[in-house]
Amino acid sequence: MKRIGVLTSGGDSPGMNAAIRAVVRKGIYHDLEVYGIKYGYSGLIAGDIHKMELGSVGDIIHRGGTMLYTARCEEFKTLEGQQKGIEQLKKFGIEGLVVIGGDGSFQGAKKLTEHGFPTIGVPGTIDNDIPGTDFTIGFDTALNTVIDAIDKIRDTATSHERTYVIEVMGRHAGDLALWSGLADGAETILIPEADFDMDQIVSRLNRGQERGKKHSIIMVAEGVGNGFDFGKRISEATNMETRVTVLGHIQRGGSPTGFDRVLASRLGAKAVDLLLAGEAGVTVGIQNNKLVHHDIEEILSQNHQIDLDMYKLSQELSI
Ligand code: F6P
Repeated sequence: MKRIGVLTSGGDSPGMNAAIRAVVRKGIYHDLEVYGIKYGYSGLIAGDIHKMELGSVGDIIHRGGTMLYTARCEEFKTLEGQQKGIEQLKKFGIEGLVVIGGDGSFQGAKKLTEHGFPTIGVPGTIDNDIPGTDFTIGFDTALNTVIDAIDKIRDTATSHERTYVIEVMGRHAGDLALWSGLADGAETILIPEADFDMDQIVSRLNRGQERGKKHSIIMVAEGVGNGFDFGKRISEATNMETRVTVLGHIQRGGSPTGFDRVLASRLGAKAVDLLLAGEAGVTVGIQNNKLVHHDIEEILSQNHQIDLDMYKLSQELSI
C-alpha cells in the first residue's frame, strides 16, 4: 500500500483533528502518501481530495472541530453514490481509507469494504455510543463541557433555590447525561436505557426540599424526550420554581481534553497500522486501556450498552 485517504463524517467531535494528525503523520512515518478528503462522503463523491504533508496537520492537535470539515451524505447511502466514491479513490490511486466518525459513518465504511475497498473506522462522536470501544473520541471533552455548564447553573440554582432541568445530547445514548449527572451529583438522571417513574422523581425532589436542599438538578438525555416537557411536568407536580436549559451544540465544540487528544492519537495511528497489516472492514477502539479492533459488521449489529451499575450508583448517591 502506497497511498491512503482520511475523512471525517457525521457530527464533528473534539479530538477529530488529533485523529487526522495521527493518520497523516503515522502514514508519512511509514512512507505512505496521505490524502485528506474534505466534507466526508460528499467530498469523496465530488473528488474534494488533497495531498497532506507533515505541515498540513501542524497546530491542530488542540483545536476542536475538524480541519477536513464534515457532512451527513444521503447520496452515499445509495449504490450509485458508493460507486462514485470508489471511482474517485481509484482516480487518486488511493488504496485504503480511514473514516473518522460515528455509526452512520461506519455504515459507509462497511459498504466500501463490501465493494472491495479496504476501510478502517475510527470512533469519533460525543455520544459514546459505538460498541467495541470503552470511549469514543470527543466524549470526554463534551462531558467536561457539560460539567462546566452544570457547575455554573448550580451557582444560580442555589441563589434562587430553583430546580433545573438540563437537557444534554447523546442521540439514543444516555452516557453524557449519566456521566455528567454522576460527576455533578444530580438528583435525577433520565436516560433512554432505563425506565423511570415520574411519581418517584417528584417524591425524591420533595424529600430533598423538606430536608433543606437549596436546589435540584435533573439531567435529561435528549433520547428520553424534550427537557421543556419535563420542566413543565415537574413544576406542575411540585411547588418548585423550575427552569430548563438545553445545552445544545456547545457540547460539540471546544479544545479537546488531554484524554481525547491521546485517545485520538492512539486510535488514528492504530488505523494506519491495521491498513498496512492488510486489515479491512474493522473498527478500532480502546477496551481496558488496550487498543483493539473488531469486525465492522459485528460492531454495527450490536446495540451500545450503557454501564447500568454506574446508573444504579448515581441513584444510590442521590438519595
Ligand atoms: O451524534 C452527535 C450529535 O451531536 C448527537 O448528540 C445529536 O443528536 C446530533 O448529533 C445532532 O445533530 P445535528 O448537529 O445534525 O443537529
